[in-house]
Amino acid sequence: MVPANISARVAELHEALHRHNYQYYVLQAPIISDLEFDKLLRELQGYEADFPSLISPDSPTQRVGGEVSEKFAKVAHPGPILSLGNAFGAEEAKEWYERILRLDDRVENVDFTVEPKIDGLTVVLHYENGVFMQGATRGNGEIGEDITANLRTIAALPLKLPIDPNAKVVVPTRLVVRGEAFMPVAEFDAMNEKLKAAGEKTYVNPRNTASGALRNLDTKVTASRPLTLLCYQIVLIEGIALDSQWETLNYLKSLGFPVPAVSQLFSNIDDAVAYCEEWGEKRSTLSYETDGMVIKVNENAVYSDLGIVGKDPRAAVAYKYPAQEVTTTLNDIGVNVGRTGVLTPYAILEPVEVGGVVVRQATLHNFDFIFEKDIRIGDRVLIKRAGEVIPYVIGPIVDVRTGAERVFEIPSVCPVCGEPAEQPEGEVAVYCVNASCPAQLKRNIEHFVSRGTLDIDGFGEKLAVQLVDEGLLADVADVFTLDKEKLLALEGFGDKKADNLLAAIEVAKTRPLDRLLSALGVKGVGDVAARDLANAFGSFDALLTATVDDLVAIDGIGQISAQFVVDWFGRPANQKLLEKLRVLGVWPTQVVIQQTEAEQAELPFSGQTFVLTGTLPNWSRSEAKSFIEANGGKVTGSVSKKTSYVVVGESPGSKATKAEALGIQILDEAALRRLVEN
Ligand code: IVH
Repeated sequence: MVPANISARVAELHEALHRHNYQYYVLQAPIISDLEFDKLLRELQGYEADFPSLISPDSPTQRVGGEVSEKFAKVAHPGPILSLGNAFGAEEAKEWYERILRLDDRVENVDFTVEPKIDGLTVVLHYENGVFMQGATRGNGEIGEDITANLRTIAALPLKLPIDPNAKVVVPTRLVVRGEAFMPVAEFDAMNEKLKAAGEKTYVNPRNTASGALRNLDTKVTASRPLTLLCYQIVLIEGIALDSQWETLNYLKSLGFPVPAVSQLFSNIDDAVAYCEEWGEKRSTLSYETDGMVIKVNENAVYSDLGIVGKDPRAAVAYKYPAQEVTTTLNDIGVNVGRTGVLTPYAILEPVEVGGVVVRQATLHNFDFIFEKDIRIGDRVLIKRAGEVIPYVIGPIVDVRTGAERVFEIPSVCPVCGEPAEQPEGEVAVYCVNASCPAQLKRNIEHFVSRGTLDIDGFGEKLAVQLVDEGLLADVADVFTLDKEKLLALEGFGDKKADNLLAAIEVAKTRPLDRLLSALGVKGVGDVAARDLANAFGSFDALLTATVDDLVAIDGIGQISAQFVVDWFGRPANQKLLEKLRVLGVWPTQVVIQQTEAEQAELPFSGQTFVLTGTLPNWSRSEAKSFIEANGGKVTGSVSKKTSYVVVGESPGSKATKAEALGIQILDEAALRRLVEN
């Protein structure tokens, strides 16, 4: 007997899988990610394995997937176009190996090929005497759609074999090849850039775009899309015998088919799995998207004897990487206030797992982005988290809107202090211009005490928030008015913690002028400019009377920074703040002595080159630069083989892509800081 709760869940899974299958294959508008689909399917397969009576002919597990659309002529495949079972991680891959070893002891001695699992569309290509005759989609695995005309537009697809007429290779009378058509990521991005510039709608991801292009009835549209192809299987061949998958790949290559370059042959499963893991780390360096690798038994005889279970050959398995893209609900849009008062929106999400971590928030870049993508509160959204980079919202899934979604409005007041927000002419950013806004104060204090500036041990973001909320800090100078009594009254503070913090604050009083100067967060003054100014003026007293002319006379200080400095020191509120610091005994006059070469060589980033791209969460570009330089590193503008690290923030540019292509290590702001801590 099947327990009632399981029957009910199975009915739910049937309904959901059928619906998603239809969304995906017929409407070409999936509303969940591939991985989420796989998860549902696997759950159903699990119940069916436990209770075989649940298996019905209409179960979503019983078909190869895919409705056949009415638009195109039908093509019967010469053999079933099979799918693959999944293994999530090394352990499941080894379980797969153990399973097939139990079925056939020859598995003990077979080799394995490992190929990338290209995230595109399966295409089935028919050749007669070397001439491309017909091409089809996978359809339901038995019958596909005739997309010959669309496929002809793909430049990588050989129309006549062999591609090299002088190649010494036998061309079979009949040949049917399986491959994957896809859009390279860089080309997808470039295409979207162009569409955006022309004011047209942009696409969500390379895969759906490729699918739409391949099945477009207007082949001119297909031709205009940057599609390409990689082949990996022979479905049918006449007159030639091939013994292994490795031989197949090489044979396809000799005929002129594009085959995946990262494919490799291994003599044991452990090495094959290690190779899959290795590519998990560097998959973003591939020109195409991939959600895994495919491990295949190399020997054809063993491969076919192992047979098929459902729609999957037993002798191959997809080694899947954790999902990078998932869908979830956008519960709300929050607005952060930065140190300079800039308001930045972020997505508050229904918590969801992406790539092994639970994501609750994601960046929305800026207000323009929300309107450009027509993102509404309550929408189902597609989010992506790749590598160490902060998760971001790709866009809404418009098809599942219920009508209850709300259009977001740019706040007219600061969400924290309630004072009017302003958008300066010619700027995209909206600002809170209230100098005593508590949100700005919190950010200012965080910056004031942070590692790159006054470096007060044990003083972080949480404490800054707590102290402002408790009314203990009204400006940054108040950090030096904290005493034991005040601290002990705070939640989480004991004797020892209070003493330690006060000792660290005492140390901070003795920091040199340049550190205090950069701690104040004067616009345009990062570590490097602060050092130049401290060296040239020697004290706040001198800086208070400096003119723009005095300032630009200093090497490294430009007209704009000079004006910012004069403005800052001229503002009465800042003069009051400085006076307060003077009274509190925080008035360094110490001139920083330039480091000697030997000292420079000791610094953690000595000899290393960094490139910055995108907007970092806490640091401006010049602050990050100053941090790197203060630690002995160099910052350059473009990525090359000599670059040691690329530091990536929100909306990174092509530098990030280039870094990936060159295999250069990518860091986010937090990872950059950690480099120094280690
Ligand atoms: S082998 C019978 N190899 O991944 C062999 N598939 O379900 C089954 N794919 O949609 C396929 N790259 O189109 C194989 N190197 C590769 C592949 C690959 C991508 C796709 C395939 C199918 C899915 C597996």
